[in-house]
Amino acid sequence: MRRLLFHHARNLLSSTKDLSSLQSLRLLHVCIIGSGPAGFYTAEKMLKADDKVEIDILDRLPTPFGLVRSGVAPDHPETKIVVNQFTRVATNERCSFYGNVSLGNSVSLPELRQIYDIVVLAYGAESDRSLGVLGEDLRGIYSAREFVWWYNGHPDCYNLEPDLKHTDTAVIFGQVALEPLKVYLVGRRGPAQAACTTKELREILGIKNVNVHIQEADLVKSPADEEGLKNTRIQRRVYELFAKAATSAPHPAVDQRELHFVFFRKPERFLSSDGCNVSGVRLEKTCLKENGGSGRQVAVGTGEFENLNCGLVLKSIGYKSLPVNGLPFDSQRGIVPNVKGRVVSSNQTEHEKVEHGLYVVGWLKRGPTGIIGTNLYCAAETVMSILEDVHKGEYVQSSKPGREGLLHLLKDKNLRFVPFGGWEKIDCKEKMKGQLQNRPRDKITSWEELLKAANE
Ligand SMILES: Cc1cc2nc3c(=O)[nH]c(=O)nc-3n(C[C@H](O)[C@H](O)[C@H](O)COP(=O)(O)OP(=O)(O)OC[C@H]3O[C@@H](n4cnc5c(N)ncnc54)[C@H](O)[C@@H]3O)c2cc1C
Ligand SMILES: NC(=O)c1ccc[n+]([C@@H]2O[C@H](COP(=O)([O-])OP(=O)(O)OC[C@H]3O[C@@H](n4cnc5c(N)ncnc54)[C@H](OP(=O)(O)O)[C@@H]3O)[C@@H](O)[C@H]2O)c1
Ligand SMILES: *[C@@H]1O[C@H](CO)[C@@H](O)[C@H](O)[C@H]1NC(C)=O
Ligand SMILES: *[C@@H]1O[C@H](CO)[C@@H](O)[C@H](O)[C@H]1NC(C)=O
Ligand SMILES: *[C@@H]1O[C@H](CO)[C@@H](O)[C@H](O)[C@H]1NC(C)=O
Repeated sequence: MRRLLFHHARNLLSSTKDLSSLQSLRLLHVCIIGSGPAGFYTAEKMLKADDKVEIDILDRLPTPFGLVRSGVAPDHPETKIVVNQFTRVATNERCSFYGNVSLGNSVSLPELRQIYDIVVLAYGAESDRSLGVLGEDLRGIYSAREFVWWYNGHPDCYNLEPDLKHTDTAVIFGQVALEPLKVYLVGRRGPAQAACTTKELREILGIKNVNVHIQEADLVKSPADEEGLKNTRIQRRVYELFAKAATSAPHPAVDQRELHFVFFRKPERFLSSDGCNVSGVRLEKTCLKENGGSGRQVAVGTGEFENLNCGLVLKSIGYKSLPVNGLPFDSQRGIVPNVKGRVVSSNQTEHEKVEHGLYVVGWLKRGPTGIIGTNLYCAAETVMSILEDVHKGEYVQSSKPGREGLLHLLKDKNLRFVPFGGWEKIDCKEKMKGQLQNRPRDKITSWEELLKAANE
């Protein structure tokens, strides 16, 4: 009924061309897919910018907050405080959370675009870059994403159970951390190009009862390294930390774990002694060459090989986003093509075409890099584009149903969602379970139990 009124009002007003007052009458229906930092920062900014905005946040999990829950290490509680801010957004009266609703499985993108004026994609990067070498699918080789999901209790990986007992050597590509006796962190470039922060490196080097091994020869800097280090303070300090660790004497104690930083090596193939489990990796030595005129130094093989035995391999070479039907996707870069957050489709030969009412934010927009705070700036840019389009009057003619339409759609499909209150029940239960063990929380890790807890 109200919508009908707006409809008449719109016709009336568009004849007098008074678009601004019309905008202040009508609700703008926004759907955000994904409840990680990118989704929540976008929702927060939209709610603040315009009080005629109503937002529905969908997530395929029954739990919100994306990688803040399932990526950030459990021993970094201070990083997770941002969850309080996101909870205030989710409980805003113009915002609603719909968990257990998956874009691509439960609902399709065309369905959502029919219902909402604006759809913002914020579903992150839930697949992995691959090394593309022989033996990559042997047992005992995992992506960092799977491994992190496993120890963080993500319901898609709770039964991964990597065999840490029968393994005394783990190899990690891409240089990140962990438990067995000997850990080799292998990087294809040198200590002057390591992809970590000083804080992260200090944490690893500071783990008790671990002897750190770094080849001093790897610390020799080329003129190009010197040039590169001059320009970035963080990289310079990371390099200095490596140099210090390489020259400090090892602890004499017995029964210690070993952490080996192996630089200038890339995997050529994985090895197996039983044809099923990984038993080692064949590494090729690399050297650095400048890539064209880009100034970036890249690792190239030297044709020299060596084998390293191990029973567990973690590939930590980066995440990758997944496409969904009906969405332009750049499979090379693993992102949704966009101009300042406006999704564009292009057919190579012609100019880019802006997809009306479709926006993107976060790792899906920029690729899988950056900390939580990076998504705040990313969301600011996307919201700026949305508001520009709103003020241009792009959504004035629309009479889409928004939330009411979503509820109908889910009902028609016989799908039950988990509201924010359902997550709060899960949250409560996890905290209570944790209290018994003197921990802040004990996560519920299976789909079945999560959905049960949400409905109790
Ligand atoms: C292991 C790890 C540790 C990190 N630690 C830190 C740290 O300590 N500090 C820091 O500042 N940053 C950290 N980061 C970076 C930070 O987590 C990211 O920058 C940030 O989470 C990216 O936000 P996002 O919203 O784009 O994606 P995500 O956080 O991944 O959120 C995506 C959301 O979309 C949902 N989703 C996925 N597919 C669908 C679908 N088809 N339908 C519906 N919903 C879907 C997911 O369930 C998820 O909730 C870490 C990242 C990783 C990988
Ligand atoms: N505690 C934290 O704050 C925290 C923790 C984890 C992640 N994060 C955030 O999450 C983002 C992603 O982190 P990430 O570790 O997944 O990715 P990343 O920072 O991009 O690092 C990827 C690493 O893998 C290497 N690599 C890529 N392809 C390779 C290949 N084919 N062979 C060998 N090595 C390869 C890269 O080497 P090259 O440099 O040679 O390409 C690089 O060292 C980061 O931007 C970070 O901000 C933060
Ligand atoms: C692979 O390793 C597991 C134990 O980690 C073992 O049970 C299994 O038999 C091994 N596979 C083969 C083919 O030997
Ligand atoms: C590309 O898109 C433009 C504009 O939508 C269209 O005119 C053109 O025919 C398309 N070209 C191809 C090769 O599909
Ligand atoms: C969650 O979604 C699944 C698959 O769509 C469905 O079978 C289940 O009933 C839903 N459960 C709840 C509690 O929402």
